[in-house]
Amino acid sequence: MPLREVLQFPDPRLKRVSEPIATIDEEIRALARDMCDVMYDEPGIGLAAPQLGAAVRMFVIDTGWNDEGGERNPLTLINPEIVHRQGVITWEEGCLSVPDYTADVERAAEVTIKATDLDGAEIVEKAEGLRAVCLQHELDHLDGILFIDRISRLKRSLYVKKRKKQLTLEQEE
Ligand code: NI
Repeated sequence: MPLREVLQFPDPRLKRVSEPIATIDEEIRALARDMCDVMYDEPGIGLAAPQLGAAVRMFVIDTGWNDEGGERNPLTLINPEIVHRQGVITWEEGCLSVPDYTADVERAAEVTIKATDLDGAEIVEKAEGLRAVCLQHELDHLDGILFIDRISRLKRSLYVKKRKKQLTLEQEE
């Protein structure tokens, strides 16, 4: 079966606020599997359900798998909530839904997130550095926020212009 397509800016579905997941059923488990497959294929270190067009509060991350000697160790977070944040960190971010662009984004340097895993058990995930950045980036997707919503208006409008040009060229091809 072909992999599901990642929605790309400016698809309006990326701007929706996703709904909490009430029941972890086979459909949700299948979606989580699809999300992991797409994340490893792209490749990426995180993917949120809205990026595949599903407006539900779930994302997957695996921040170490493409390091040298790293192994796949995906974590699925359902209905995640930040319960603690501390400090400030600036990181150059990119996103599978924002083609050909990266920019510095300021976020909390450390976060603690409470969520439910695929078995319905509560998990508490504490992270710092890249993993903390990734968790906050993916959680933003569930609220319809992209990292380009967290950069200066000028930088954002330059990207939007570039992206529109790119889409026009694609259409002309
Ligand atoms: Ni993203």
